[in-house]
Amino acid sequence: MKSFYITTAIDYVNGSPHLGHAYEKVLTDTIARFRRQMGDRVHFLTGVDEHGQKVQASAKKKGIPPQQFCDEVSEEFRALLPQLNISNDDFIRTTDERHKKVVRAVLQQLFDQGEIYKAEYQGFYSTRQEQFLQEKDRLEDGTWPEIFGEVSEIVESNYFFKLKQYQAWLVDFLATNENFIFPAYRQKQVQEFLKEPLNDLCISRPRERLEWGISLPFDDGYVTYVWFDALLNYYSAVVDRPEIWAEAHHVIGKDILVPPHAVYWPIMLKAAGISLPKGIIAHGWWMTRGAKMSKSTGNALNPLDLVAEFGTDAFRYFLIREMNVGQDSDFTREQFLVRYTSELANNLGNLVNRTLNMTTRFAAGVVPAAEVGAGEATGAGDLEKVLQDLWTKTRDEFIPQCEGYQFHTALERVMVFLTETNAYIEKRAPWKLGKSTEAKDLALLRTVLATIAEALRLAVAAVQHVMPSTTEKINAVLGYTPGAVWRDELTWGSKLTGAKVAGALVLFPRPAPPEKAPAPVKAG
Ligand code: MSP
Repeated sequence: MKSFYITTAIDYVNGSPHLGHAYEKVLTDTIARFRRQMGDRVHFLTGVDEHGQKVQASAKKKGIPPQQFCDEVSEEFRALLPQLNISNDDFIRTTDERHKKVVRAVLQQLFDQGEIYKAEYQGFYSTRQEQFLQEKDRLEDGTWPEIFGEVSEIVESNYFFKLKQYQAWLVDFLATNENFIFPAYRQKQVQEFLKEPLNDLCISRPRERLEWGISLPFDDGYVTYVWFDALLNYYSAVVDRPEIWAEAHHVIGKDILVPPHAVYWPIMLKAAGISLPKGIIAHGWWMTRGAKMSKSTGNALNPLDLVAEFGTDAFRYFLIREMNVGQDSDFTREQFLVRYTSELANNLGNLVNRTLNMTTRFAAGVVPAAEVGAGEATGAGDLEKVLQDLWTKTRDEFIPQCEGYQFHTALERVMVFLTETNAYIEKRAPWKLGKSTEAKDLALLRTVLATIAEALRLAVAAVQHVMPSTTEKINAVLGYTPGAVWRDELTWGSKLTGAKVAGALVLFPRPAPPEKAPAPVKAG
């Protein structure tokens, strides 16, 4: 069994989780579930990033100690996971002792190896980004970009990590590992970034300025820079399980690719003699009218509101169906409703209802066996074969698409298959066949019922990693228990022959109509 280790970024706990955070969890969960279905031994880690200036400031604003603040907000992030049906195996907090221990050990090791030195720094500092700035970060008019917030000039002694001396190595590494970062165009961006010389990385903050962090093991007048601390979570969580670490994949947003994940992280690992992750998957952003959804701009949606209104699986489906991993996408309620209604309710929901109704009505609720050539016998052609061939083609494309994180296209193909299955029902009109007394019509009717039940079973197996509880519910009403090997479930067969189906299942109810707009105030 092959190991597969997958992580999300760890979220800052200076505000409540929003749709962007939820997306990353759902995407990572989709990958984790898919790999499990493919037979890998998956380890899935998520967690929270609790140290640093932002958290210290938020706690102060609330008038409570930072640890108490972290305990409260981290609980909110943790509680989101079951609501989204996230199948993580572990949840790490950077205030966990197991994590702090590893951060201190790595720092001490790098210090002992001479990879870390002390020097005086004079320059500009962004408190919001907790980052030292350079002249090249300025805008053309001499001001600092908005994202840095307030920028002040400071002089202080700090510890620096020798990043610069690994630049040539990293350039070479990326040239020989072309698929390290997904999508490929993001790897190109990193390579562009590395055309400029790197500076050594300041990895300490004087305690007077920032208290809320892990003390440097070799100088407790300082705490560790939050990124140095945070990145190590991926490793600290599995420090005693090298076989898992060897298969690490990180899912992150594009905003934290360069430089933290694509430059600092590989170099930190290289310097410490730890093997590198296998890959980084950088997704895009959910936007609201062209702007990144974020708590600071106040345009963020609460994922739990959508889950409460439409259910976990519809929410998961929309995020994965709508987003092409790597690119940005605008979130609109209208688009959500379009997909919910046309794809989930009218396409999938409808096929479920028709299958259950017609099997109950025409076959006493027991899925009959298909009869080869039944269509041709009535002179109506072999539409069953056409549908089966479409399935085989869909399945053959679907697996490589999922392996390549093209889940949106994979889902689109399944939807096409469902549309074609519903169209097949229209063409065969089983309600007419049911009125006939001719043996060949009744044979065709049995074949139609067997065909649509099998088509439904297959489509439902294919969306399992995206909508796990919907798959479970539909299998239950089909009276079906899937086998242990998921891939074997994807072959057209007669797995449902003789299954006793339930009468009905309401899956995607019509959403309540929007509240009435207030009546316009009369003039005069
Ligand atoms: N704490 C750091 C990550 C440290 S990882 C060692 C951080 N936290 S964050 O809370 O700001 O962001 C967490 C993740 O959510 C990031 O991967 C980020 O890209 C993602 N998202 C935040 N807003 C987003 C959207 N609007 N859309 C999609 N994902 C975005 O950065």
